[in-house]
Amino acid sequence: MLRPVLAIESSCDETATAVLAADGRILAEAVLSQREHMAFGGVVPEIAARAHLEHLPGMVARTLETAGVSPRDLGAVAASTGPGLIGGLIVGSGFAKGMAIATGVPFVAINHLEAHALTPRLPGLVEGGAPFPYLLLLVSGGHCQCVEVSGVGQYRRLGGTIDDAAGEAFDKVAKLLGLGWPGGPAVERLAREGDARRYAFPRPLLGRKGCDFSFSGLKTAVVHAVATLPAGALPRQVVADLCASFQAAVADTLADRVGHALAMMPQAKLLVVSGGVAANQALRAVLEQVAAKAGVRFAAPPLRLCGDNAVMVAWAALERLRLGYASPLDAAPKPRWPLDAEDMVIRP
Ligand code: KG4
Ligand code: ZN
Repeated sequence: MLRPVLAIESSCDETATAVLAADGRILAEAVLSQREHMAFGGVVPEIAARAHLEHLPGMVARTLETAGVSPRDLGAVAASTGPGLIGGLIVGSGFAKGMAIATGVPFVAINHLEAHALTPRLPGLVEGGAPFPYLLLLVSGGHCQCVEVSGVGQYRRLGGTIDDAAGEAFDKVAKLLGLGWPGGPAVERLAREGDARRYAFPRPLLGRKGCDFSFSGLKTAVVHAVATLPAGALPRQVVADLCASFQAAVADTLADRVGHALAMMPQAKLLVVSGGVAANQALRAVLEQVAAKAGVRFAAPPLRLCGDNAVMVAWAALERLRLGYASPLDAAPKPRWPLDAEDMVIRP
């Protein structure tokens, strides 16, 4: 019987910790979204690494205390070791390895994308569970891809973005409209007040074979639309209409591409959306319709588990530990680490 797992997430600008019981129950969780980057309109890697270093020790101690778990009771320590910003990855994985050595338990190096991918399998999260295989739409600030998930460590990328990620497009549009950063939540909020038909933005790759994505042309179209408006501060309604029109274009694009991906994976009975952009209610609603039309179930993690967190890292570690997998202590952090990399496969 496994003991509780402590996990650390530090691949971007969220410092997060969690302790999960061996059965997947969440005993304690904490997420600190670093505010330090706001003034810069995007994540500054060096500042992120320093902030992880500053916050991690206290957060780990408090999470363990809240969980009522002493380091001696741990069964493993896990950390996101890629893909992501190398400074933060070094901080988090170094800390986790140190704790694993000190407590004499295994270290588990987790691929951050796998953590997003397996989140819906957390017990009790999704009605009816999320048995393999399923189609995963992973949409975050750095990633946008359709993945066939057939088991832990078994991923096949069906298609992905050829330029920007969906979250990146939200962030860039928000920046252009002066909505601050991160942009996704702000664009979604304003879009609710806007008219999605006011601006006819392009739906890149719509109807095209396969399930690749492209968002840079859409972003440029928003730039052009803004450039044609009178100079000076934009009226709130105009900004809202731009947000609504942009979001509708993203939704149509995702719906079309995911529809194609479902056709490429006829064995799928479930569509899962995960990653920061999965928090967007309008996008969820559209994807739910796509799933219904294709006759498959639809699942999305609760909002707090869509963005970066350590619960998902701990859960991925539990899934791997159950299959007898643990990582060597010299497992190096990897800024690039695709889901279908050779070393993702669990070999006996
Ligand atoms: O998964 P995540 O927390 O970090 C990465 O691994 O990238 O995703 C962050 C991204 C950001 O681009 C943010 O703007 C976007 O997710 N995001 C949203 C929403 N909430 C966060 N995009 C659209 N609508 C939202 N409600
Ligand atoms: Zn993420």
